[in-house]
Amino acid sequence: MIHLIDKLCEERRLPPDGYRRLLDCRDGHTLGYLQQRAQETAVRHFGHEIYIRGLIETGNRCRNNCYYCGIRAGNTALTRYTLSPDEVLACCRRGHALGFRTFVLQSGEQPPSADRPLAALVEAIHREFPDCAITLSVGERSREAYAMFRRAGATRYLLRHETRNEAHYASLHPPGMSLRHRLECLRTLKELGYQTGTGMMAGSPGQTTAHLVEDLLFIEAFQPEMVGIGPFIPHHGTPFARHPAGSLDTTLRLLSIIRLMLPGVLLPATTALATLCPDGRERGILAGANVVMPNLSPPARRGLYDLYDHKACTGAESAGGLRELEQQLNRIGYTISKEKGDYRHV
Ligand code: 5AD
Repeated sequence: MIHLIDKLCEERRLPPDGYRRLLDCRDGHTLGYLQQRAQETAVRHFGHEIYIRGLIETGNRCRNNCYYCGIRAGNTALTRYTLSPDEVLACCRRGHALGFRTFVLQSGEQPPSADRPLAALVEAIHREFPDCAITLSVGERSREAYAMFRRAGATRYLLRHETRNEAHYASLHPPGMSLRHRLECLRTLKELGYQTGTGMMAGSPGQTTAHLVEDLLFIEAFQPEMVGIGPFIPHHGTPFARHPAGSLDTTLRLLSIIRLMLPGVLLPATTALATLCPDGRERGILAGANVVMPNLSPPARRGLYDLYDHKACTGAESAGGLRELEQQLNRIGYTISKEKGDYRHV
């Protein structure tokens, strides 16, 4: 097994069976070595510095009905909100004063009528904060919309593929949504010059090791600049309410494999990981992650951006808790970087 990890380090890829063996491995020594090599790789490229991104959840209205997600259209129990452009700009001002130089605008998926207003908002943020990167995470949109957002000043886009397996995709999403379209969107984003992020949940309902191998092969071929990996966490208002959460172990293992596959990738220790386990964020960083995304949304609305139950959004998960985050990172030998932190080819 050790030679497999060394091979992944050197060649940045493995044959499918190599990934499978790493994902199925139960030997603590091997897993410790995987984590150590991933951590070393992150430190070699980024030092002991962690990039911060201010996450602004601009609205929870969503036209989709993904079976795992708490803000799905079918969840009628949820109070819906949309932040006004002024509210979003106020979040950015607060974030900028705190030292954030990347704003991530995330929302449920909106109809095409929302494209122009979003482009105008991106433009306003870009005008007021030309020193900041703007990342969008607003789902599947048309090529024209993606191009318009890009012209308005967005340079990064997050769109998880969720699973690279057709049948698995169909078991997580309603008819009307397709893996083919999701992948087409990802290719378009890359073509338009976005730093593009993709990824999947660890332990989503029905996920097998074979699916994760497909995910890893996809990520290897797609070469994203960012990868979002977090555990699945059930939400009470979804068909998967009683499905168990994904495991810490699988999440960490995926982070390490991805760090070795894409040494310069921007890899967050996600909110879902911090929600799953009190020291999840730190463990993610020690497994090769190099980004955290504290919540910059207005505190009164945070509870409504309810992707899964008990989502962490206070303390070190909130932008106001930056000092607490810094202390947590210091305890494991890391500091916060206030750089914009663009992707670098290595
Ligand atoms: N558990 C964990 N992550 C979730 N997401 C949506 N629902 C859940 C859940 N129940 C993730 C999806 C999506 C991202 C914004 O949040 O992977 O791409």
